[in-house]
Amino acid sequence: MDVSLTIRSAAPEDEPGVIALWRACDLVASYNDPGADFRFARAGACSDVLVGVDDTDRICGSVMVGHDGHRGWLYYVASAPDVRGGGVGRQMVEAAEGWLRERGVVKAQLLVRETNTKVVSFYERLGFEVAPRVIMGKWLGRTG
Ligand SMILES: CC(C)(COP(=O)(O)OP(=O)(O)OC[C@H]1O[C@@H](n2cnc3c(N)ncnc32)[C@H](O)[C@@H]1OP(=O)(O)O)[C@@H](O)C(=O)NCCC(=O)NCCS
Repeated sequence: MDVSLTIRSAAPEDEPGVIALWRACDLVASYNDPGADFRFARAGACSDVLVGVDDTDRICGSVMVGHDGHRGWLYYVASAPDVRGGGVGRQMVEAAEGWLRERGVVKAQLLVRETNTKVVSFYERLGFEVAPRVIMGKWLGRTG
């Protein structure tokens, strides 16, 4: 049976709980500052961090969602290790899809690290397809 979740936008005071979840899910890469990522996404007009809280008010799911004026993007999709298989991941992804749809975005995309390809089947269960694209990136540095 699915874990019963309340999904809402993260509040500033959720930052420690969200970062703890990201760490428990091994989502914090050495080159990312999770606190800066959390605050930057929350502050954006076209982005947010959604959290899923259970009936004890524990944050057990997250997704960072945003759009670039064209496509929607999902990051930090996380389900706490002890609730995996209970529908938390699905509910978080579907909430992000709803967030994007409400803003007129017709396609959601996400990146999977080469070292994490086991999650590809999870996304395929939710209707995502592997897209044959070459992703190019360049670090610009953070100001402020
Ligand atoms: C990927 C992750 C979010 C899945 O969360 P979850 O709560 O276990 O997922 P759900 O229970 O909602 O599963 C949804 C469906 O996907 C399937 N599924 C979940 N994980 C799967 C996996 N690794 N491989 C294949 N199928 C998987 C479930 O069986 C379920 O199938 P159903 O439609 O038949 O019910 C979770 O494993 C996680 O947080 N992993 C670490 C962080 C991570 O890698 N995030 C993705 C970054 S790109």
